[in-house]
Amino acid sequence: MKLMLLGPPGAGKGTQAKRLEDAYGIIQLSTGDMLRVEVASGSDLGKQAKEIMESGGLVSDDLIINMISSRIDHDDCKGGFILDGFPRTTPQAEALDTMFSDKGMKLDHVIEMKVDDDAMVERITGRYTCAGCGAGYHDSFQKPKEEGICDKCGGTDFKRRSDDNAETVRSRLEAYHEQTAPIITYYRDKGTLKSVDGMAAIDEVTTQIKDEIG
Ligand code: AP5
Repeated sequence: MKLMLLGPPGAGKGTQAKRLEDAYGIIQLSTGDMLRVEVASGSDLGKQAKEIMESGGLVSDDLIINMISSRIDHDDCKGGFILDGFPRTTPQAEALDTMFSDKGMKLDHVIEMKVDDDAMVERITGRYTCAGCGAGYHDSFQKPKEEGICDKCGGTDFKRRSDDNAETVRSRLEAYHEQTAPIITYYRDKGTLKSVDGMAAIDEVTTQIKDEIG
C-alpha cells in the first residue's frame, strides 16, 4: 500500500504515520526527517537545507524530488510506504505522478488531515521526541506513561526540534497555505482525496484513517 498524509505542520502526520507503520507493516517516509539527517551529517544537501528549514520556508523542489525518488527505490519500500511531508508543492505532486508511472507504482490513498491553524502552535511548541528511538510525545496531549521515561525504549533522553518555536511555526503555516494547500485540490480533482478530522483525539484520528483506507 502507498499512502500519503497531507496537512499543515502539527496536523499529526508523523504521529499517525508511526501508528500506521505498526498496523500495516509499511514504512514512514518523512522528507522532514530525511532532511534533518542530512543537516546533522553536515552533507552538502544538509548545508543547503539548514537555513531554509530554520526560517520555516520550503527546500527547493529539485533537491526534494531527487531525495524521495532514490529513497523509494530502497528494498524496505517494497512492502509499501507512507508519504509524510511530501509532496508539498504542485511541481512535487506532478513529479510524484511521473515517478510512480516510471517505476510502475500506484498511489492507493491520499488522506487530508483537517485542523485549525490556531491549535497548531500549541501542538508544535509542546512536541518532543525520545533521543534514542524517536518516539513522539507532547507536554500536554501525549505524555509518557511514566514521566521522563520513554514508553517504547525506556530511554531518558529527549529532544526538541530547533524549528519548533512559535515564530517559525507561523512561517511554516504560511508556507503551507501558499504552496501546499493547492495540492489538496490537485488530489480532490483526481478523485483520490479522503479527509479526516485531525482535531479529534489521536486514537480517534487513527480509527478514522483506518476506516478510510479499509
Ligand atoms: P516536517 O518535518 O515535514 O515538518 P511539518 O510539515 O512542519 O510537520 P510537523 O512534523 O511539524 O507536523 P506533523 O503533522 O508531523 O505533527 P506531529 O504528528 O509531530 O518539515 C520540516 C521542514 O523541512 C519544513 O518546514 C521544510 O523546510 C522542510 N521540508 C520537509 N519536507 C519538504 C518538502 N516536501 N518540500 C520542501 N521542504 C520540505 O504532531 C505534532 C504534535 O502534536 C506532537 O507532539 C503530537 O503528540 C501532537 N498531536 C498529534 N496529533 C494530535 C491530536 N490529534 N491531538 C492532540 N495532539 C496531537
